[in-house]
Amino acid sequence: MTTPTFKAGLEDVVVSTSEICFIDGEQGRLLYRGYDIHDLVARSTFEEVVYLLWHGALPTRKELGGFVKELAAHRRLSPKIIATLRGFPGKGAPMEVLRTGVSLLGMFDREHDDHSREASLRKALRLTAQIPTLVAAWARIRKGKEPVASSPRLGHAANFLWMLFGKRPTELSAKAFDSCLILHADHEFNASTFAARITASTLSDMYSAVTSAIGTLRGPLHGGANEQVIRMLLGIGEPARAEAWIREALDQKQRIMGFGHRVYHTEDPRATHLRRLSEALGRQAGDLTWYEISRVIEREMQAEKGLYPNVDFYSASTYHAMGIEADLFTPIFAMSRVSGWTAHILEQQAHNRLIRPRAEYTGPTRATYVPIDRR
Ligand code: COA
Repeated sequence: MTTPTFKAGLEDVVVSTSEICFIDGEQGRLLYRGYDIHDLVARSTFEEVVYLLWHGALPTRKELGGFVKELAAHRRLSPKIIATLRGFPGKGAPMEVLRTGVSLLGMFDREHDDHSREASLRKALRLTAQIPTLVAAWARIRKGKEPVASSPRLGHAANFLWMLFGKRPTELSAKAFDSCLILHADHEFNASTFAARITASTLSDMYSAVTSAIGTLRGPLHGGANEQVIRMLLGIGEPARAEAWIREALDQKQRIMGFGHRVYHTEDPRATHLRRLSEALGRQAGDLTWYEISRVIEREMQAEKGLYPNVDFYSASTYHAMGIEADLFTPIFAMSRVSGWTAHILEQQAHNRLIRPRAEYTGPTRATYVPIDRR
């Protein structure tokens, strides 16, 4: 028998093959189905990227037109789901509401336990269409406001901002938000995607797999970092204080959210775009404070620790400049990543084998049972 070996945090351990996403952590390259993220941000839309992730090829004009319509047609939530949201405690964190909301959507889906590729694609589409509606509805309900009905004329990104604020976004905001969704759509075997695949590998249903993923994304070492980043920036308050703040934090051995990555050892290619978007949206809002503080922190983290910003660092100031509340940042990450999670669930279902690794046992092996009255 071979002795099991282990790698803390599964660092660099390859657990499966996959045709969906490629990361080169040394060169800072990210590809979805072979297409460079830089090309996709410059030339594509979120809807087209979702199609690409699920089907493995870019759509024709006709296919994309039909897909965009289908997504828009499935945004509406059942009134029973809206009524359930109204019963949630007002302090319910949007990420918890989303986790519970997705679970709830599963109970209302008649195809819940149909694991055929066709049914799975339909469920992936409904989930991707309805998660933004859940997030926007809760953001309003918790403040005593009525949810805003989706607009069939608006694309996925612009429609979310419409449902959240009840007014049409500027062209810059809509385009920037669409780019953010593209940038967050997939990232190989990150923790939440792995969680989704593990759940799917037991032949559990897609809603359970996505619920597992949402719970995993929530942690501050993963998607929850973007909310912590904006709280840090707001705490620093002004660019002039940033250098002293970060030096002190590093002296105290604090972990700075939005920096470092398990796979990238150079600039995260997503951060390159988010830095630009943060500046553009700061200018639009007439307030570059958060962008400027971020620049100082980035400079110091590079000089002191050799660490680069990851996807969560500049997305925080980008969303803040759009007027979005901090605790919606991670649900927005989920709104995009659901496309990747479901692409991976489809791939897992197509070539399934139960994911069941081993542990290297380090506990005792010859413990002698002592009756309870003699312990
Ligand atoms: N701030 C300060 N130090 C950091 C750091 C950060 N953000 N990220 C890593 N480090 C340091 C660690 O303290 C550790 O130093 P040590 O060896 O002197 O103890 C070293 O770098 C390695 O860190 P480790 O946590 O083992 O790396 P990892 O590969 O397990 O972790 C992350 C990767 C992403 C979890 C980690 O970089 C992190 O916690 N970042 C902040 C959270 C975040 O932004 N998450 C979103 C990721 S997209």
